[in-house]
Amino acid sequence: MGHKTIDELVRADEGLVSRSIFVDDDIFQQELRQVFSRAWLFVGHESLVPKPDDYFVSRMGTESVILTRDRQGLIQVMLNSCAHRGMKLCRYDHGNNRTFTCPYHGWSFSTDGKLVERPGELVGVPGHATHYKGELDKKQWGLKTVAQVVNYKGAVFATWDADAPPFEDYLGNMRLYLDAALDHRDGSPGGSEVIGGVQKWRVKCNWKFAPENFIGDLYHDISHRSVDIVGIGPGGGKGRRDASVSRSAICFPELGHGLLGRLPFYEEGPYAPQYARYPEVEAYFRQIHEQRERTLGSAMRVQTSVGTIFPNMSFHGRQPRTLAVFHPISATEMEMWRMYLVDKDAPEAVKEAMRHYFLRYSGPGGMTESDDMENWTGATEASMGAMSRELYFNYQMGVGHAQPVPEIPGCAVNGEYTEENARIYYRRWAQFMNGLSWEQLMAGAVRLEERAA
Ligand code: FES
Ligand code: FE
Repeated sequence: MGHKTIDELVRADEGLVSRSIFVDDDIFQQELRQVFSRAWLFVGHESLVPKPDDYFVSRMGTESVILTRDRQGLIQVMLNSCAHRGMKLCRYDHGNNRTFTCPYHGWSFSTDGKLVERPGELVGVPGHATHYKGELDKKQWGLKTVAQVVNYKGAVFATWDADAPPFEDYLGNMRLYLDAALDHRDGSPGGSEVIGGVQKWRVKCNWKFAPENFIGDLYHDISHRSVDIVGIGPGGGKGRRDASVSRSAICFPELGHGLLGRLPFYEEGPYAPQYARYPEVEAYFRQIHEQRERTLGSAMRVQTSVGTIFPNMSFHGRQPRTLAVFHPISATEMEMWRMYLVDKDAPEAVKEAMRHYFLRYSGPGGMTESDDMENWTGATEASMGAMSRELYFNYQMGVGHAQPVPEIPGCAVNGEYTEENARIYYRRWAQFMNGLSWEQLMAGAVRLEERAA
């Protein structure tokens, strides 16, 4: 990459982004510090830890973290690394543990608020009285915990940065669209759950290709032609969803989030043809839609298809609802995770139909995901050379044509096919990489809100 500055590498206004930010090791290390140590990151779903002492091992950037529900029922997130000499405490993907005991020298840590003042406190040290002569201050040697954690409609997000703004401010008006994925029944009881566990697999590509794709790359649909020809939608017809709806690329330029959705109003796609072969499923979603229409009326939200929360979480916002997270492993490798959400109290037939559709569509063996992976790995590999990494990718579609949406503060939209959303994503990335303060990072969002008021 030579010695280019971040602003030379990301020239978002011109629609130019250097290939080096997808392959360079120094940039990658800088990302871990400037992006992953500060931003709010998706860590998991509450349904992965339903009972006290349940834990699920997740990741934040390249770090392994423990997501656990303490005995008081609160979700805690801690670094999965012993304070003594760094050994991984949890070596399984999930389980149930009252205390976390290190396999190396046996230190143990607890999250039980009855025993400890703060989660992850050191409670047991073999030989504390003898080998340490009682002199080791256990209070000083707890596990590193995240600075802030939220359980937002069942989705757990956390940040290492105590100065980060509250999660809902970080989301801004993107919240409405994330809600569609997390809780499409708008707070009606029951909630959502992840079914079938978490699919995890590694892809030899830079992690940013995936959130960039999900933030609004409708243009790449040509990649999925074979899927469209085969027809994997639940109705059994051609196309992936058996229903083509026009979508707009909607983005939040000041926050770096974006989606493909339907403006101006929420209109659920025609469920009848979509789930025609599954009458029970069709009836279930129709009833939810009608209920939603009754409770929300004219406040019906925009229909979301796919979206991205900066930096590395994406989702499908309509049936089937999925959450995806793209963990950085190195500049040229990521670990992709996918979770499938269903209503906890949905009939078994609905869950089963969703499960089948998920498996055809997504995941390492899914028909669309494998198309995308092929593109991302190919683009990464072909940008690793000394010559190719000096080139720029083109993000010029629709430059200068974004329009604000008065009804949605802080929002811009640019028709169906545009690269506006990718541009706002990389502009946000550059702001983080340049080390802007949270005040600076959020100032634009506040300004837009005020303007709309
Ligand atoms: Fe954990 Fe020593 S590394 S007890
Ligand atoms: Fe795709």
